[in-house]
Amino acid sequence: MASARSDPAVLLRTEHAVARVLAQAHDQAEAYPALLAAMGGSLAWDFGAVWVPEDGKLRCIETWPDASDFAAESLALEMGPGEGLPGRVWAADAPAWLTGVPTEGRYPRAEAATRAGLQSAFAFPVRGAAILAVIEFFTADLRDADEHLLDTMTSLGSQIGQFVERRRAEQGVRDADARKSAILNAAFDCVVTMDHEGNIVEVNKATERTFGYSAAELVGRELAAMMIPPDLRDAHRNALKRYIDTGQERVINHPIELRAMRRDGSEFPVELAISRPDLPGPALFCGYLRDVTERRRAEKAVRRLATEQAALRRVATAVAAEHDPARVFGVVTEEVGRLLSAQTANMVRYDGAGAAAVVGGWNAEGVRSVPVGDYVTLDGDTVAMRVWLSQGPARVDSYEEIEGEMAQSLRELGFRAAVAAPVWLGGRLWGAVIVSSVKPEPFPPGAEQRLADFAELVTQALANAQARQELAASRARIVEAGDAERRRLERNLHDGAQQRLVSLALNLRLAARSCSPDDENSRAAFERAGEELAQALEELRELARGIHPAVLSDRGLEPAIEALAARTPVPVSFAIELEQRLPEPVEAAAYYVVAEALTNAAKHSHASEVSVRIGRDNGYARIEVADDGVGGAATGDGSGLRGLVDRVEALGGRLELESPLGEGTTVRAEIPS
Ligand SMILES: Nc1ncnc2c1ncn2[C@@H]1O[C@H](COP(=O)(O)OP(=O)(O)O)[C@@H](O)[C@H]1O
Ligand SMILES: [Mg+2]
Repeated sequence: MASARSDPAVLLRTEHAVARVLAQAHDQAEAYPALLAAMGGSLAWDFGAVWVPEDGKLRCIETWPDASDFAAESLALEMGPGEGLPGRVWAADAPAWLTGVPTEGRYPRAEAATRAGLQSAFAFPVRGAAILAVIEFFTADLRDADEHLLDTMTSLGSQIGQFVERRRAEQGVRDADARKSAILNAAFDCVVTMDHEGNIVEVNKATERTFGYSAAELVGRELAAMMIPPDLRDAHRNALKRYIDTGQERVINHPIELRAMRRDGSEFPVELAISRPDLPGPALFCGYLRDVTERRRAEKAVRRLATEQAALRRVATAVAAEHDPARVFGVVTEEVGRLLSAQTANMVRYDGAGAAAVVGGWNAEGVRSVPVGDYVTLDGDTVAMRVWLSQGPARVDSYEEIEGEMAQSLRELGFRAAVAAPVWLGGRLWGAVIVSSVKPEPFPPGAEQRLADFAELVTQALANAQARQELAASRARIVEAGDAERRRLERNLHDGAQQRLVSLALNLRLAARSCSPDDENSRAAFERAGEELAQALEELRELARGIHPAVLSDRGLEPAIEALAARTPVPVSFAIELEQRLPEPVEAAAYYVVAEALTNAAKHSHASEVSVRIGRDNGYARIEVADDGVGGAATGDGSGLRGLVDRVEALGGRLELESPLGEGTTVRAEIPS
């Protein structure tokens, strides 16, 4: 069969048609049907198909026209290398031509072609780096092989191959890009890409959310101008310039913390990590930026809680250790003042409706405040008044508009805002802790509730102090009642039993005298009875003195102590310097201190002498008894010294025992009087 030669115009038209399809198609799925139609149409062939290799076989993926028995048969077939026309082209990697339906060789569709009346065919490879497809065309005519047509088709085959490969590559890039975008957009962190001139190249969704710009508004703009607070911009620009010029940098791959700026100009803390992807061309930078506002807030809250706990602990310690509520007020006001960054803090005690006494206070240096000891009138809507009325924590955010003398004087002192919390005692509102500020901004929300925790500790301190006072008062009452009872006993003994015994002694003596001189026995018996009675009387007197020295009540401390000294076997020197008599309970306590100390010195100390000193100064009676004996005395060992401690403390005083071994013993008492 002679070789045919196609009309060049037809081939040219076909090339144009193919070029048009390739220019318009997005991918191979769209291109193949259009290519079959364009080529088949312009070349005037009757059937076309596209075969693609898949798992070592060729499969028909497209036919033109698409509905015919032959098309259906082709679509159902798979061809191995060398099998059928497409298999031959695939195996040989070269175009092929058939004129007439072949009668031998492996042509699975020979019968179908005969049935369809298809007589001639050609096929060519679609080639890129490898064979991507085989395209075949059939016609009912008997046409001779046309080398020229085959050459053109082979060239078109490689154009189509390039198209397919390019589109596949593009699709690959698009897929990767889509994957990357999906990852970036799902990220919680802001991811910002910046070019070597400092302009934004790309941002993710988190960036849009965080900064309040759309991606379109950011891309192409200078990052510094859009996202960095004005005061940090130059540092950023200089660092970028230095890096571009010299390669020197400090932040790449080293996360740093700094501030960023939102669209509305508000600033927020961020943690920033920058990486520089290793790409050809000018430098690109990827910034990963995390809003750490929450983290900072949490850290600050933890720090604040720790400070507050420490302050509470200090106050609690003071409450436990300090006996004097005034000292506790001092500690509390200072702690709450500092804690709430205020300039002054006060403790007030409500004195009925309408007035309050300032009982404690603290001022920052250079700030004036209402002095401790002052009375203030609750005549306006001040914070003290609000606590009084609401019986709960209260605040005043501005004293500007508040009427009344109190508010006026607070304004004059420069106070702008205050918070306060109530202090309770015995279930009743007792007073308030007030914290005031000279700054224009009000206290942070919740400040008054925080203050309430401290106020509760004050309540505790007051309750403690009250309990202590009550305890002391009851001890004093017990001692006094005991002393009174002792005086009564002594009086009764003196006026009753002693008097009777004295007169009995007289009677005995009279009886002895009136005995007959012969009755020696009776007289002797009366005299013995008289002597025993005299001894009993002396013992009774001694007992009465121990119960309560009458001389103390009658004549005072000095004669009573003189009497004690006279009865003590160790020499006693004493110096008593009192301008007037001490109050009765103090005088009794002083007497018993000296009495017990002298008894102890005689009983335990082996001392050569004892000295007693009594005086009064600064509102205290001071009693001191010192011996030069063996020492080693302790209050817990017996009942005597222990009883003295109770007696002295009951009067609000203190008893001190100094008794080093071998160096004598000193008992000191001081009693308020
Ligand atoms: N002046 C002293 N010198 C040496 N030891 C003393 C002296 N006073 C007290 N003591 C010691 O301290 C103890 C406690 O004294 P005290 O409470 O008066 O009890 P009591 O005298 O009833 O034994 C005494 O038992 C004694 O051992
Ligand atoms: Mg004793």
